[in-house]
Amino acid sequence: MIICRDLHKTYEGGKTGWPALRGLTFSIDRGEFVAVTGPSGCGKSTLLNILGLLDEPSCGSYALDGLDAARMSDNERSAARLHRIGFVFQAFHLLNRLSALENVCLPLMYAGEGKEDMRRRAHDLLARVGLKGKERKTPLELSGGERQRVAIARALANSPRLLLADEPTGNLDSSSSREVMDILLGLAGEGMTVVMVTHDRELAARAGRNIRMRDGEIESPSGRGRPGPQDGEK
Ligand SMILES: Nc1ncnc2c1ncn2[C@@H]1O[C@H](COP(=O)(O)OP(=O)(O)OP(=O)(O)O)[C@@H](O)[C@H]1O
Ligand SMILES: [Mg+2]
Repeated sequence: MIICRDLHKTYEGGKTGWPALRGLTFSIDRGEFVAVTGPSGCGKSTLLNILGLLDEPSCGSYALDGLDAARMSDNERSAARLHRIGFVFQAFHLLNRLSALENVCLPLMYAGEGKEDMRRRAHDLLARVGLKGKERKTPLELSGGERQRVAIARALANSPRLLLADEPTGNLDSSSSREVMDILLGLAGEGMTVVMVTHDRELAARAGRNIRMRDGEIESPSGRGRPGPQDGEK
């Protein structure tokens, strides 16, 4: 589902720029649950933003579902972000003026869904993350764990096949973290590909595979099914 070859990202600034990713090669199969770990500043969010088509690598290639990201037009990138990829962030990024239901409806609205279908689907999604009966509450009337579950429901709205989560439990206590993790594991069990950045070792241990990063490189283990000439290398 995801194939990255020699991915580099250098942020502009200073004389030489800041190398945040320094040659990542790995692949992720459909339905895998991968935890990305590593010290602060090692490039985890940078990688996730590239996988989510929010940012572009400076060099190297990224293919999603066989589509080369570098060859996508702006429209294709937006369409892929809307339909193929769901995002969950540490800080939830919900609109506080809208109800839980309306937050989940937003991506459906962008996709041009009819009003009734949209509300029905949002209801189902909120039920699936355990928020039945809380549809009308606004984020400020929900706990952190509940907010994150609304954010997950929103990320699922357009039935993406890839879910990217950047420290989704970073603002949550341990029991809410486990609930969120259980939901993500359940999704992966149904065939969703999940890539989750986390600092939590216990949660990372529950993922199917860990990619550990350090200083913009993959420290261990080498990405399973490494494509290209690196095959077989350590
Ligand atoms: N927009 C930017 N411009 C310049 N440098 C950046 C930018 N975003 C990130 N960086 C730098 O790139 C490196 C990687 O940042 P990134 O946010 O990917 O780290 P991270 O692993 O997600 O860290 P954390 O665990 O703290 O979230 C850092 O050294 C950071 O300072
Ligand atoms: Mg980060």
